[in-house]
Amino acid sequence: MLQFPIFAPMINQEDFFKKITSHAKEYGFVFPSSEIYDGLSAVYDYGQNGAELKNNIRQYWWKSMVQYHENIVGIDAAIFMHPTTWKASGHVDAFNDPLIDNKDSKKRYRADVLVEDHMAKIEGKINKEIEKAKKRFGDTFDEKQYRETNPRVLDYQQQINDISKRFYQSLENNDLDDVKKQIEELGIVCPISGSRNWTEVRQFNLMFSTKMGSTADGANEIYLRPETAQGIFANYLNVQKTGRMKLPFGIAQTGKAFRNEIVARQFIFRMREFEQMEMQFFVRPGEEMKWYEYWKQQRMQWHLSLGIPAEKYRFHDHEKLAHYANAAADIEFDFPFGFKELEGIHSRTDFDLGAHQKFSGKKLQYFDPETNESYVPYVVETSIGLDRMFLAVLSHAYTEEKLDDGSERVVLKLPPVLAPYKAAILPLMKKDGLPEKAREILAELQEDFMCHYEEKDAIGKRYRRHDAIGTPYCITIDHQSLEDNTVTIRERDTMQQERVAITDLATIIRKKIKPVK
Ligand code: GAP
Repeated sequence: MLQFPIFAPMINQEDFFKKITSHAKEYGFVFPSSEIYDGLSAVYDYGQNGAELKNNIRQYWWKSMVQYHENIVGIDAAIFMHPTTWKASGHVDAFNDPLIDNKDSKKRYRADVLVEDHMAKIEGKINKEIEKAKKRFGDTFDEKQYRETNPRVLDYQQQINDISKRFYQSLENNDLDDVKKQIEELGIVCPISGSRNWTEVRQFNLMFSTKMGSTADGANEIYLRPETAQGIFANYLNVQKTGRMKLPFGIAQTGKAFRNEIVARQFIFRMREFEQMEMQFFVRPGEEMKWYEYWKQQRMQWHLSLGIPAEKYRFHDHEKLAHYANAAADIEFDFPFGFKELEGIHSRTDFDLGAHQKFSGKKLQYFDPETNESYVPYVVETSIGLDRMFLAVLSHAYTEEKLDDGSERVVLKLPPVLAPYKAAILPLMKKDGLPEKAREILAELQEDFMCHYEEKDAIGKRYRRHDAIGTPYCITIDHQSLEDNTVTIRERDTMQQERVAITDLATIIRKKIKPVK
């Protein structure tokens, strides 16, 4: 059957993104939180299909990290931690974003985002020059040489370098007056009011705090964790000792994290309550770079194993490193709004364990039986946002197709292993014993796979509903099934149907949901 995507190349990215968010809502994947009260900014709920997809992503990660690695174990630490944790980790003092308000629109912005957007505009001018030159010179065009010699491009690049150097220097020195001065000098205007009527820049801590205990008892201020990693560091010795773990070994964890983001936009990309999947890998000091490279490759391989094409991913190595890191890279994904961070791989040195050792006064050392030495291990971290992965998978899967009979369909081409349902069980009619036969098949397959039983509406309509939620197989039970125990099985992407024995169904589905290795 002929089918081809009809919209993707024709609509702009913004419209495409809107389609994804409305599809997510219409088909029970993602709802705005407390929608009956008009929602809560940058907080979302996962519906019946979203919860399944999210669970499947989490399980796929857990399997690859914990089940397939004999030297990685998983934990589930509490969201609340002793407040000193966040002093030691540096979050109380340094987990800040520079904030600025426009007095006319009353809109709040991150100062760094305003300046970065300004630099991106200049970068856009460079790209335009290059596109023009490409057209002019054709096959003989040498982009590298052009970038190095064209006076206009060189001038734009110099502008970016100058802005970036001064801006990051000011941020590092916490010179917020200069940050504001630079925003004014660059002529950056509020996108809403168009004015340059800015407030002072101030630092804004992203942690949510609350009180534990009653006020009469002298309640303590505690924080909702802004990352799951610290629960791993605080338990490092418990796990190492009780699990008799030897270096190198890892501790993995998935769970909620909370950040009071100043600018929360782009749907579930930047949320105030979100979920992380993190793994801290403890290694001998001096071996961290080897393991850093190893985990960079392993994590990219994990993404590719889902069958999403390699060109949708890229590494972004950090030039400017956080104070605790000696190497860091992001895996970026080509979201509908461009390449953005999906996962971070960080070589965190012995910063976290060292700081907890200092602040708690408890030794967090490892005795190495091979060298007869005790030391604080170094750590390589992999950290991916589950919600961002959800958005990556969903936006890549969303496809609109025109079929050769002139009709159109929306299909989610989800990696089968992640699909909410693996099979839909559909009796052709609601009579003649077909529902009973279908329910027998459902009972058998349900043992191993999430399946969905549906008998309402014409079969074509039911196929479309399952295309729209990404079900890889639709199994139809007809009169012949009663005679010879065969059914038709329809594959989601090709829409091809095949007659197969009921006894073969489980094997066919299992083969389909195997990851691409
Ligand atoms: N423990 C390291 C850490 O938390 P991070 O780069 O701040 O590092 C890791 O966060 C990942 O968590 C990011 O790559 C992103 O996928 C996800 N993430 C961070 N902030 C987020 C937010 N506000 N909403 C959704 N996901 C977020």
